[in-house]
Amino acid sequence: MKKQNLLLLSLVFICAACSSVKQAKQTAYNETHRPQFHFSPKAHWMNDPNGLVYLNGTYHLFFQYYPDSTVWGPMHWGHATSKDLVHWDEQAIALYPDSLGWIFSGSAVYDKNNTSGLGKDGKMPLVAMFTHHNSKLEKQGRNDYQNQSLAYSLDEGKTWTKYAGNPVLKNPGIVDFRDPKVRWNDEVRKWILTLATKDRITFYSSTDLKNWNKESEFGEKAGAHGGVWECPDLFPMQLNGKTVWVLLVSINPGGPNKGSATQYFVGDFDGKIFTPYNTDTKFIDWGADNYAGVTWSNTGDRSIFLGWMSNWQYANIVPTEKWRSAMAFPRELSLKTVGNMVYLASEPVKELNDILSETSSVNNTVVNGSLDLSDKIEAFNSQYQLKFSSEKLTNYSIVLSNDLGEEVVIGYDKQANQYYIDRSKAGKIAFEKGFGVKHTAPRISEEAGTEVTLIVDVASVELFADNGLSVMTDIFFPNKTLTKVSIKSADGMILKNLSYSGIEGIWK
Ligand code: FRU
Repeated sequence: MKKQNLLLLSLVFICAACSSVKQAKQTAYNETHRPQFHFSPKAHWMNDPNGLVYLNGTYHLFFQYYPDSTVWGPMHWGHATSKDLVHWDEQAIALYPDSLGWIFSGSAVYDKNNTSGLGKDGKMPLVAMFTHHNSKLEKQGRNDYQNQSLAYSLDEGKTWTKYAGNPVLKNPGIVDFRDPKVRWNDEVRKWILTLATKDRITFYSSTDLKNWNKESEFGEKAGAHGGVWECPDLFPMQLNGKTVWVLLVSINPGGPNKGSATQYFVGDFDGKIFTPYNTDTKFIDWGADNYAGVTWSNTGDRSIFLGWMSNWQYANIVPTEKWRSAMAFPRELSLKTVGNMVYLASEPVKELNDILSETSSVNNTVVNGSLDLSDKIEAFNSQYQLKFSSEKLTNYSIVLSNDLGEEVVIGYDKQANQYYIDRSKAGKIAFEKGFGVKHTAPRISEEAGTEVTLIVDVASVELFADNGLSVMTDIFFPNKTLTKVSIKSADGMILKNLSYSGIEGIWK
């Protein structure tokens, strides 16, 4: 055969192979309720994001994973990577249970100075710290069955070795003693460990990630205590040239709309003690489905937050068959002052723009009744940015629906001064009695309330209002995809601008 023909033939083969890989990927992520621009595992159970770390152009996402079932069980760390926080490639399982227990939540850091001594031949390690959960000891009724351990990787997260001296932080007799989040503190030149210890946070420090000293406790009488404290994170942010420390604490149950949710505190941290500006209860997301969220490490000035898009109230029984649950869309955090309080605001990371398509808009329209957009855009896989005139800010709603009459309603209630998401008519709701309800979020800032962004996937909506100060995430499971969308207001609301864009699926 001539050289040219051979080349042509091999090109045909390569293309055929490419398209069959593409097809396989598309089929695998096309099932009913499968999120199209949110990460979900190809199959089986997932919960909390773990070990979020950025290294050499790659965002690593590890996650609580049970590869043998679609319900929670003996935990592993699954793994996915992304170059842009948007498109994800699922990788081999990173950590398997061992004789010390199941692998519960934790974090990962890049030990660039090899303080741990776990690096080798000039290769600096990624070091993961996680909770070993020993279910045998738990069954025996002991209270010290959760201990903190290390694993390290010398090939940028591809393979992991458990540290031979595990556990590195032994349980002093506290039943809930877990979810280590580690971060280098330049001022004290030590690693600071933020650990959930039942109804409070305990801070530890270390120079080598292996030997830990207790520094202080925080929170016994602060914030919400409707459930156990889990999955904390402590990180600095800038506000008007000043460093402010943010402490995230997930609680389950005790969330504002029942079940699990993530609260936060802002204050000072001197390397030993966290001093909050106040101890009020604030939530990073008021919806029902954003839990156990933490930030990526090693991202410089960016604070990028990722939460698990579910709720322990029903996570194990949501109506998906092959896999269970997805991550919320990654969010950029910032601080804002309202009155004399400092709040955390969130917005979708700017990388979302890379998958937006077909932007169009409606300008200066009075909505008296219903503005049907269904012939212009499909309700799902879309971003909506709405700007209202502050002159006549009144009740309004955005209704996503299908021709079965199922709907999810996202809106603003002027009298109650609240945002809401109502999924009481959203299709499959009977699997849990508390699922089909309306959730509300208070408004924090009166001034900023004229802009709202929604991002809508096949099975979720994320609402960012008042410049990211009021945020809600809810999942839903209609019997047919919600393809129709309309904006409703009975009171003649002035819509200055509605800009809507398609969001491309990430699995192509
Ligand atoms: C939070 C959590 C963590 C724990 C993990 C177990 O959702 O309960 O506290 O480490 O899930 O899967």
